[in-house]
Amino acid sequence: KLPMEIAVLGLPEEQGRVLSTLVRAMDARRILDLGTFTGYSSIAMALSTASDAKIACCEPDVEYARSARDWWLKSGVSSKMQMYECEAEEMMQKLLDDGEAGEVDFIFCDVASRERYPQCHELAMQLLRVGGVIVYYDTLWAADPVLQHGHYPALREFNQALSEDPRVLASLVPLSYGITLTMKALNLDGEELAAVQQTGGDDDLAALLTKRRAEVEAELAELETA
Ligand SMILES: C[S@@+](CC[C@H](N)C(=O)[O-])C[C@H]1O[C@@H](n2cnc3c(N)ncnc32)[C@H](O)[C@@H]1O
Repeated sequence: KLPMEIAVLGLPEEQGRVLSTLVRAMDARRILDLGTFTGYSSIAMALSTASDAKIACCEPDVEYARSARDWWLKSGVSSKMQMYECEAEEMMQKLLDDGEAGEVDFIFCDVASRERYPQCHELAMQLLRVGGVIVYYDTLWAADPVLQHGHYPALREFNQALSEDPRVLASLVPLSYGITLTMKALNLDGEELAAVQQTGGDDDLAALLTKRRAEVEAELAELETA
């Protein structure tokens, strides 16, 4: 049994329902659960997915990871689960190295170190397919210096950056501690985008997007003639 101050790290039930609804609606087959703790979010998603769905989970705390495996067994979902006992960035990089770029349908990001969300986002942009979704948890109250249960000033910047990221459509929903529903709308090289955002103005960004559009049109034309 966990002490209350640790147990509250677990996901609230209404959030589990949001996750199960989304993965079912999308018929997501390749899913990542970042920050698995004792397994609630991963189980909520596993229970509503098709039998061949696979969920890659990461949890650096060995005891929590063991507990998650126990709960998976009790819930009858172990066959869908893969546990990486490491940090989110390490697991995501490994999946990229294994050739999973553009293969992932859905990601739930709930790593306790909220200041790592920007790094997770960049890796997620490589792993997600166009149309794939990432849900960031705890993005509203944690970004507020007054109305908070834990204060992560960096989340304000993260929320701002997401709202200006042309690769995604993002919506911060004030449910529970706040969740951001984020859909990957287009493939765009993350490093090129960062360079333009640092140095350039709107014109440079427009030029980058125009270049990407031309690339996509060329790819489509090639498909049509093939
Ligand atoms: C709020 S809990 C996650 C709750 C979980 N999603 C659930 O459904 O109950 C955050 C978890 O992230 C883990 N964590 C901390 N830093 C991490 C990192 N860099 N990468 C992945 N997980 C991390 C913590 O050990 C903790 O178990």
